[in-house]
Amino acid sequence: MTMRLSVFGTGYLGATHAAGMAELGHEVIGVDIDPAKIERLARGEVPFFEPGLPELLRKHVESGRLRFTTDAAEAVDFADVHFIGVGTPQKKGEYAADMRFVDSVIETIAPLLTRPAVILGKSTVPVGTAARLAARVREIAPVGEDAQLGWNPEFLREGFAVEDTLRPDRLVLGVDTEHPGRIEEVARQVYADALARETPMVVTDLATAELVKVSANAFLATKISFINAVAEICEATGADVVDLADAIGYDARIGRKFLGAGLGFGGGCLPKDIRAFMARADELGTGHALRFLREVDDVNLRRRDHVVDLAAREVGGSLNGARIAVLGAAFKPNSDDVRDSPALDISGRLHLAGADVRVFDPEAMPNAAAIWPTLPFARNAEEACAEADLVIVATEWKEFRELDPAVVGAAVSQRTVIDGRNCLPAQAWIDAGWRYLGLGRYAS
Ligand code: UGA
Repeated sequence: MTMRLSVFGTGYLGATHAAGMAELGHEVIGVDIDPAKIERLARGEVPFFEPGLPELLRKHVESGRLRFTTDAAEAVDFADVHFIGVGTPQKKGEYAADMRFVDSVIETIAPLLTRPAVILGKSTVPVGTAARLAARVREIAPVGEDAQLGWNPEFLREGFAVEDTLRPDRLVLGVDTEHPGRIEEVARQVYADALARETPMVVTDLATAELVKVSANAFLATKISFINAVAEICEATGADVVDLADAIGYDARIGRKFLGAGLGFGGGCLPKDIRAFMARADELGTGHALRFLREVDDVNLRRRDHVVDLAAREVGGSLNGARIAVLGAAFKPNSDDVRDSPALDISGRLHLAGADVRVFDPEAMPNAAAIWPTLPFARNAEEACAEADLVIVATEWKEFRELDPAVVGAAVSQRTVIDGRNCLPAQAWIDAGWRYLGLGRYAS
């Protein structure tokens, strides 16, 4: 059944959700307060890099099933279900999440609700937010109790956002148990396609739905920091963390995914979500329960220090004047997102320490340059590596994994590579005469 949906917020989450819902057959209107973004989206252009999204967006802008506006009243008038997909970034100077964008969407749309409507929150929020917002909506919406809010967290990964939206591995819906209303019925209609494929759907209370999302990200962050902590021990003993991860990963209870040791996690989600989770636990008087996440964060940040120290060691003790190629600026491949990117962080630190850094990333350089305008960027990997004393692979883009070590070897002045993502074929680089340093392996 075709439904009329609005999506507030058109970033990585909102824009993908809007296009995905149009692909499922719904009529969708995307809303944002940024007119420049809306203008580009309305022309069928995606303002960030996400594989497959430009094609999907163009298809549905052209089919007329998807349009964009800055006018919230137009969207509320058009749609019966309103998704909230705005950001909840870390507050400046504190761990807590900044809720102003979510609050502002509610304050904007609720007073406009003159007919029954369902609001489904997708943004990652501190537990307790949805109950507060549900009460606020009932209070200020002209339809009162017929304006209902549920929480429907999103688990999409950047780089696979389209696939994750069209074919999610699970759906989670939080319902206000005292005011269940039509939320579940409406959500089942919206996601009829996934449900027909027997995608599991967990229907629960609002607090649980909010906690599912942050717990999932906290677990993933913990898994990455676990292997990176073990990498520190491997470095002290000459053991190999990649073989170790393969070996423990064969245990189905453990699994190999997210045991990629290296520069650690970054991006707009994992780092800020574990911090917001700790901040919320402190507010609830249960801070002790999540104290280990502080260690997860510390292990993660220590990996960046380690690569900077390793770089200094490899260029003879002082970074000043050393020519260093950094391949990668995005927080992970297939993304142009540089929020809290380990790659960009180490590039900036090497640069500040006086190194002659050359950074190359296939997609993220404009975003990286906006944050670090003084960093020198190269036009391609070869240019970055020319005359380099040291090459650091900081983001595992396919084109870096597939570099020919002999060709790169001919361009550099010193054949030393730090594989910050353990993504290169180590033996091939060693055979081509390189001093190869993986993280948690090979004398790193
Ligand atoms: C993450 C979650 O994986 C999604 O499920 C969630 O929906 C999303 O956050 C969100 O909250 O919106 P994302 O930030 O796109 O997705 O990135 P991930 O694929 O989780 O990677 C996060 C970071 O961990 C990257 O910097 C990546 O390089 C690093 N990582 C990942 C490792 O260092 N090792 C690994 O083994 C895996």
